[in-house]
Amino acid sequence: MGFKVAVVGATGNVGREMLDILAERRFPADEVAALASRKSMGVEVSFGDKTLKCKALEHYDFADVDICLMSAGSAVSKEWSPKIAAAGAVVIDNSSCWRYDSDVPLIVPEVNADAIASFRKKNIIANPNCSTAQLVVALKPLHDRAKITRVVVATYQSVSGAGKDAMDELFAQTKAVFTVDEVEHKKFPKRIAFNVIPQIDTFMEDGYTREEWKMLVETKKILDPKIRLTATCVRVPVFIGHSEAVNIEFANPISADEARECLRNAPGCLVIDKHEPGGYVTPYECAGEDATYISRIREDATVENGLAMWIVSDNLRKGAALNAVQIAEVLINRKLIQAKRKAA
Ligand SMILES: NC(=O)c1ccc[n+]([C@@H]2O[C@H](COP(=O)([O-])OP(=O)(O)OC[C@H]3O[C@@H](n4cnc5c(N)ncnc54)[C@H](OP(=O)(O)O)[C@@H]3O)[C@@H](O)[C@H]2O)c1
Repeated sequence: MGFKVAVVGATGNVGREMLDILAERRFPADEVAALASRKSMGVEVSFGDKTLKCKALEHYDFADVDICLMSAGSAVSKEWSPKIAAAGAVVIDNSSCWRYDSDVPLIVPEVNADAIASFRKKNIIANPNCSTAQLVVALKPLHDRAKITRVVVATYQSVSGAGKDAMDELFAQTKAVFTVDEVEHKKFPKRIAFNVIPQIDTFMEDGYTREEWKMLVETKKILDPKIRLTATCVRVPVFIGHSEAVNIEFANPISADEARECLRNAPGCLVIDKHEPGGYVTPYECAGEDATYISRIREDATVENGLAMWIVSDNLRKGAALNAVQIAEVLINRKLIQAKRKAA
């Protein structure tokens, strides 16, 4: 028998994408349950060519669930992940709730799949922040080749990274600008339509935002604690797809050509880098795609061993849902879990 998978947050941006990806990749599941809050009971969501009726998380019995893909925010995860894990399901969580817990592996399969081995400590595995996921996929092969010492990154993050209400806010504001109506903002601290906002998440004492702090701490946990990183995270009026302008310093020399070659052979990476108008990838083109796209690779002559590049990926896929499903595939392929119903 195959696995039983529960998707918590199935009506959300990430949850819907998880259901699509499970179906697309023919995940070995006998049964998939779609769960959300009580208000979504009975709401239909697509799963391949079927539809599933959502059930309420609070009434659901996880006794025969093998894998729970959790995507309902930190507060829900804090309360529910330990209960679901105690019922014997491995929780793969998309929120930031467990990422910094030393007993919880934080996994990007192309980068640190081996770190998954410690997942039984809490029966919880964390998925990184969307901006970190695509960044480390591109950094890993370069780090292996020339040892990264420092990274400076500016992000251009789409509104879908803030949930489905944030997408509605960009749509409503854009319409209001054209119809000369009042432009209201709730999800974002300022108007996002025809604007950019240099704040994602809350401010910390040192003036950085939590989103910027997450990129630093998560890159260290996933890739190498010795890497120094500074980030400026910016919200832009794009629906799907996060972009990053990245400057990387290395301990050893690496040319732009060597980096291109190295990234061309790296898992999860696709290099599109022609020195002509349009010879690079933009977020519009990466929506619905799995790869992390790397363009504009060039040498940074202002430091001894430096490169600059442009990294783009679908934040709902590699930044969230795809990475979570890939983690579940690692558990199965490495035989780290067995279907409960088979074992019974
Ligand atoms: N979007 C991204 O790019 C991205 C990337 C990485 C990580 N994440 C993380 O993934 C999580 C979900 O993000 P999202 O963008 O999918 O948000 P979203 O579109 O706002 O969806 C939130 C989902 O959580 C459900 N939910 C809320 N409260 C619940 C409760 N008490 N019990 C059960 N379900 C509840 C909602 O169900 P109802 O419809 O019933 O309210 C909905 O399905 C967040 O933690 C986010 O930080 C997102």
